[in-house]
Amino acid sequence: MSRKYLHSRSEVEVLPRAFSGTSGCILRYFCLLLQLLPAESNWQKMGALHKKRIFVLYIINGYLTDKGITTMSYNLLAGKKGIIFGALNEQSIAWRVAERAVEEGAEIILTNTAVAVRMGQLNELGQKLNAKVVPADATKEEELEVVFQEAMKSFGKVDFVLHSIGMSPNVRKGRAYDDLDYKMLQTTFDISAVSFHKMLQVAKKLDAIAEGGSVVALTYIAAQRTFVGYNDMADAKSLLESIARSFGYIYGRDKGVRINTVSQSPTVTTAGSGVKGMSDLLDFAEDLSPLGNADANDCADYCITLFSDLTRKITMQNLFNDGGFSSMGMSAAAIEAFATGRANREK
Ligand SMILES: NC(=O)c1ccc[n+]([C@@H]2O[C@H](COP(=O)([O-])OP(=O)(O)OC[C@H]3O[C@@H](n4cnc5c(N)ncnc54)[C@H](O)[C@@H]3O)[C@@H](O)[C@H]2O)c1
Repeated sequence: MSRKYLHSRSEVEVLPRAFSGTSGCILRYFCLLLQLLPAESNWQKMGALHKKRIFVLYIINGYLTDKGITTMSYNLLAGKKGIIFGALNEQSIAWRVAERAVEEGAEIILTNTAVAVRMGQLNELGQKLNAKVVPADATKEEELEVVFQEAMKSFGKVDFVLHSIGMSPNVRKGRAYDDLDYKMLQTTFDISAVSFHKMLQVAKKLDAIAEGGSVVALTYIAAQRTFVGYNDMADAKSLLESIARSFGYIYGRDKGVRINTVSQSPTVTTAGSGVKGMSDLLDFAEDLSPLGNADANDCADYCITLFSDLTRKITMQNLFNDGGFSSMGMSAAAIEAFATGRANREK
């Protein structure tokens, strides 16, 4: 007799590895047990026991989702090893990518500058995800070497790398684009773009990324179009995307490694808050995008697919994770907000 299962693996596997400890273990096994019991597909035909089973399952699922403890896990990164650059605090996009990567079965190393490790919450994330934390300034090749060597000591070659790093002293100091400080501009480029080249060059020389591996850097649409307030970060992002293409060719040809950039919606984070007029930009992008802004969780999900084997022929691309914003000209919501604002201005 064939056994029918009540739920697919992805529907039931609601308990991530991040939910650890004895209680997590018991809950996880409880869910697995529920999953393995045979069930009829039709609710009317179901016995009381099956109905109770579904009920309990959904209570647990709802509770965990509600508490933000869980998201669905598909085991997309089972057995994979990665390095995540740039998680500072819970708002950081890299923080969510790190959590999702572990939920999907990966083992990771976390890294950020020594100051960020001291002042931020990276060590807490490391403990939660059972991940080693290695301080490194991404503008310094010797420190990047330490990160990749540590990763190779722990894992052998790595399968994925996230570059989630950006900073502009000109933006921080409120310098206008037609009054840039050039030393600061150099720092913007070094941190936000050239660090990506250094990361790739160091990794390639050490042969630290496995064949079929995937590298993703985060970027913004100001690389293609003008956005007031984004300042010299726009130029840094253009350079970053160009590096992804130029190195993507070489690393793909020589070692089968994929390199892409993900162009993310405006997102409330420490770096994001530095952009002048951020809250209005968020509203504008939300009004213009048919699907609304993509948040840090959406970005993390997208990065996971790019780290996974499901995207093994995608490389040298700038991929928009922005709710449709990049293809829009004007939406009904945005034009209405514009008209109202204009009418108020003219009063
Ligand atoms: N927040 C947004 O609206 C948005 C939109 C599109 C793209 N991005 C990009 O996403 C990435 C992550 O930014 P976020 O928004 O999560 O903000 P964040 O402030 O949390 O992350 C920026 C990170 O860069 C790190 N960093 C700065 N200098 C460094 C250095 N020398 N070496 C190593 N790390 C360094 C910081 O410590 C921090 O962890 C950035 O590249 C940013 O430009 C952000």
